[in-house]
Amino acid sequence: LFSGPITFLKSAPTLDFLPDMAVNEVAFAGRSNVGKSSLLNALTNRNGLARTSNTPGRTQELNFFDVGDPLRFRLVDMPGYGYAKAPKDLVKKWRFLVNDYLRGRAALKRALVLIDSRHGIKDVDTDMLDMLDGAAVSYRIVLTKADKIKASELAAVTQRTADAIRKRPAAHPEIIATSSEKGMGIPELRAAVLEAVSQ
Ligand code: GTP
Ligand code: MG
Repeated sequence: LFSGPITFLKSAPTLDFLPDMAVNEVAFAGRSNVGKSSLLNALTNRNGLARTSNTPGRTQELNFFDVGDPLRFRLVDMPGYGYAKAPKDLVKKWRFLVNDYLRGRAALKRALVLIDSRHGIKDVDTDMLDMLDGAAVSYRIVLTKADKIKASELAAVTQRTADAIRKRPAAHPEIIATSSEKGMGIPELRAAVLEAVSQ
C-alpha cells in the first residue's frame, strides 16, 4: 500500500475545510521541527510529499493525504506545537483546531506522537498527550532522529519515555524508534499504521 498511489488531498486551516470521513485516518503530531513531514515522506517513500524545512512552524494546517486507489485510508500531517517564537493568537488557533479535530473525528483511529529522541518528552508534549487522553484518541509514541544519538542513549530515552506514559489511558505501551534519514524503524511504523487503520 505504501508503494502504491498516495496523493495530497487537501489542507485544512480551520475545521470548515475538513474532508469527509470516508475512510480511517492516522495523524502525525509533534513539536515543530521534530520531523513529522520527514517521517511521512520516509513512510511513503516519497521525497517532497510533505513539505520539510529548517524553519520551525512550517506546517500550520491539517494536511490530508489519500493512500491507495481505490482509497484505503488517510494520513494526516498535523501542525507542530511548542514553537517558542509563535505569536499567542497562533498558539490559540492551533489549540482550537487540534482539539476540535481530535474530539470530533470518528475516523481518526490513532495518533502517532513524535518525540525527538535527543530530548525525550517535554512539557509541551505532555500537553499534547493530555489532549489526546482527554479526547480518548489512542496514540503511540514514535522517537525521531535516532541517527543523532548513540544506541545506549536511545535505549535510555526509550525506557524513560515508556515509564512516562505507563499510566496514560490512551497510550499504546510500545514505542517505535525511527530515523527518516537512515530508514530505521520505518517498516515497524508502516505496520503500526496498517494495524491502526484496519480496526
Ligand atoms: P514543522 O512542520 O515545522 O512542525 O516541522 P516537522 O516536524 O514537519 O519537521 P521536518 O520534517 O520539516 O524536519 C525538521 C528538520 O529535521 C529538517 O531539517 C529535517 O531534515 C530534519 N530531520 C527530520 N528527520 C530527521 C532524521 O531522522 N534524522 C536527521 N538527522 N534529521 C532529521
Ligand atoms: Mg512539517
